[in-house]
Amino acid sequence: MNTAFSISALAREDLKCMGPYHAPYYHDVIKLDANENPYGFPPEVLAQIFREVASGDLSRYPDAAAEKLRINLSDYIRVRPENIMVGNGSDELILNLMLTFGSGAKFAVATPTFSMYEVHGRIASSMMMEVPRADGFRIDVNGLISAASLPEVKIVVICSPNSPTGNTVLPEEVEKILRSANSIVVVDEAYNEFGGESCVPLMDKYANLVILRTFSKAFGMAGLRVGYLLAGSQVINELLKVKQPYNLNVFSQTAACLVMQNLPLFKDRINNILQEREKLYGELSVLKNVKAYPTQANFIMFSTGLPADRIYQELLRQGVLIRNVEGPRLPRCLRVSVGTAEENRIFIEKLSGIING
Ligand SMILES: Cc1ncc(COP(=O)(O)O)c(C=O)c1O
Repeated sequence: MNTAFSISALAREDLKCMGPYHAPYYHDVIKLDANENPYGFPPEVLAQIFREVASGDLSRYPDAAAEKLRINLSDYIRVRPENIMVGNGSDELILNLMLTFGSGAKFAVATPTFSMYEVHGRIASSMMMEVPRADGFRIDVNGLISAASLPEVKIVVICSPNSPTGNTVLPEEVEKILRSANSIVVVDEAYNEFGGESCVPLMDKYANLVILRTFSKAFGMAGLRVGYLLAGSQVINELLKVKQPYNLNVFSQTAACLVMQNLPLFKDRINNILQEREKLYGELSVLKNVKAYPTQANFIMFSTGLPADRIYQELLRQGVLIRNVEGPRLPRCLRVSVGTAEENRIFIEKLSGIING
């Protein structure tokens, strides 16, 4: 190799200030940091998945169009299969949206929100324009309309229920933006099964609406990486140009189809999570100096009288992993996923020990 050779000189200049995404992986902790489903996969569905996968041929590539899964999803969402595209988690679809529409331009986001929009925007060379949320983290509809009217803004992103704040937007608010926007309007409904009104009914009216969904939360499939997107055919045709052909492996496609065919089992789990959420919210709210924010998702954002990092580290030391979401707009804020009754009990016990200690 030439001694003057420098990898750094070859790497993209605009990514130099960026570090790799850090997702800590801890064993033997109570994991309440990533809004996963705490109940584990129903064993009878798992057995069906293994049976079906075993009867197939793993030496062949998966169906690039994921047709069977899109038909199953079509029954669930009541949207035509041609208006559905699947991804390796909705994370991949966010990247595809940025690569397809955002590269070399800007995207507007109602913040504070899910951090991966900014990460994928950067990777795609799209610059983020923040449109701060108002009181109660409600979206600033007029601010988003103004942002969307700028010629350089190609995408507007709204998360509902929003992570980490837990509140939702009304379809009427989204419609106001859709009506005047020349850009793509993405509504990330990753937590929709836990609450909030979906924007799916707006799809027939607006060719620029994109809705993101995932199997990672309500359906307990975070480890298998299946997300999907709903959009008009023109948007889908553009996105298909950047989609990796075999982005969703055989096992994950099979699993997602079988989840769709066993929905009542998952609905029971969702109902349990909702009951536990109400209990956890009540228990958090009565702790000294704790403010718990109302939520429609499977997590709760809260602040305490102590620095967020101190709470985070101390809980971790005691075996409970949650998420520190502190930032200028979220002082002393943390986010906890709703776990099983036992996990929530331990979390509350440890947190109250730290606060009162
Ligand atoms: C709002 C939101 N969108 C998308 C995702 C990504 O989900 P997936 O596992 O489908 O990539 C998450 C995951 O935490 C999320 O919170």
